[in-house]
Amino acid sequence: MVSLKLLKKQAEKELKDAQDLKDFDDIFKKYLGKQGELVKVLRSLKKLPKAKRMKIGREANELKNFIRQRIEKASKEIRKTSVFADEEWIDITIPGKRPIIGHLHPLTQVQRKVEEIFQSMGFSVVEGPEIETEWYNFDALNIPKDHPARDMWNTFCLKDNKLILRTHTSPVQVRYMEKNNPPFRIIVPGRIFRHEATDATHEMQFYHVEGLMVDKNISVANFKAIIQEFFRRFFQKEIGIRLRPSYFPFTEPSFEIDINCVVCGGKGCSVCQKSGWLEMMGAGMVHPNVYKNSGLNPKNWQGFAFGIGMDRLAMMKYKIHDIRLFHSGDLRFLKQF
Ligand code: FA5
Repeated sequence: MVSLKLLKKQAEKELKDAQDLKDFDDIFKKYLGKQGELVKVLRSLKKLPKAKRMKIGREANELKNFIRQRIEKASKEIRKTSVFADEEWIDITIPGKRPIIGHLHPLTQVQRKVEEIFQSMGFSVVEGPEIETEWYNFDALNIPKDHPARDMWNTFCLKDNKLILRTHTSPVQVRYMEKNNPPFRIIVPGRIFRHEATDATHEMQFYHVEGLMVDKNISVANFKAIIQEFFRRFFQKEIGIRLRPSYFPFTEPSFEIDINCVVCGGKGCSVCQKSGWLEMMGAGMVHPNVYKNSGLNPKNWQGFAFGIGMDRLAMMKYKIHDIRLFHSGDLRFLKQF
């Protein structure tokens, strides 16, 4: 049988040298564990005469308590001073709490999809300012001061009346052509503002995607092919479209493009005002005066421009009956996307 004195000496030395919780844990296992030294001593007692058994049994239990107390005391000290003090102790095995993560607004999702489709057809994405001068918003786009076309959009004017909130993204056509020579194809997604009464399909702040493609021989046929392909990819199915003659001072000829109402399948609903069609965009061949105002010679270039109402695209894609929901801030609505 191992001498208890020797065991105590050995344990004392190990307790003195122990540095961290693991060392103390090892000492615990070595002496007090199921197969530990002291258990071995206690088990071997039965072979001894009664008086000796009692003496050694008492001494073994004393040593057991001594080692246990020293380990408990030292472990407490270590916990107090370590990073994981008792009150800060972290159970790293508890499964983490999932943070609540939001997602992109449906209009942003639509904008990204639109950009992706046009980029795959060779269009670059360009941006322009939301606060505009009258020159870029109206004059450069062939809308003279006294022209009734200025009444087409009731405009938000800034205090000094010199700057306005842009009423469409078309000013970026001029800004871009001033700095870049054709051939090019660009789209301009962005927010625009109109001082008008709202209803199921009209907001006073909404999104446009302007398009502009200029080269030597671009025609309406090119426009129709590109826009048909765009709608097909955006809605992932064939979509009926129609071109209606229209008027914009900055395009000639001009037209408006309607698509079959996706909400009611063309049967007629509140979104399409029972017509089965919804106006999605204005378009036309770029007017010679717009080239001139941008510093380009209209004799050299030919191209088309268009402006899609992005909110209306989103309405069609997600079958939304009221455009005002997009900016309502209603999480019950937004969480669906
Ligand atoms: C324009 O703003 C022209 N700048 C478009 C254009 C660009 C024509 C280039 C020719 C060449 P319009 O005002 O029709 O056009 O607006 C374009 C689209 O925006 C409409 O077809 C419609 O889909 C959407 N839209 C118009 N008004 C609103 C509104 N109040 N709320 C939501 N969407 C609207």
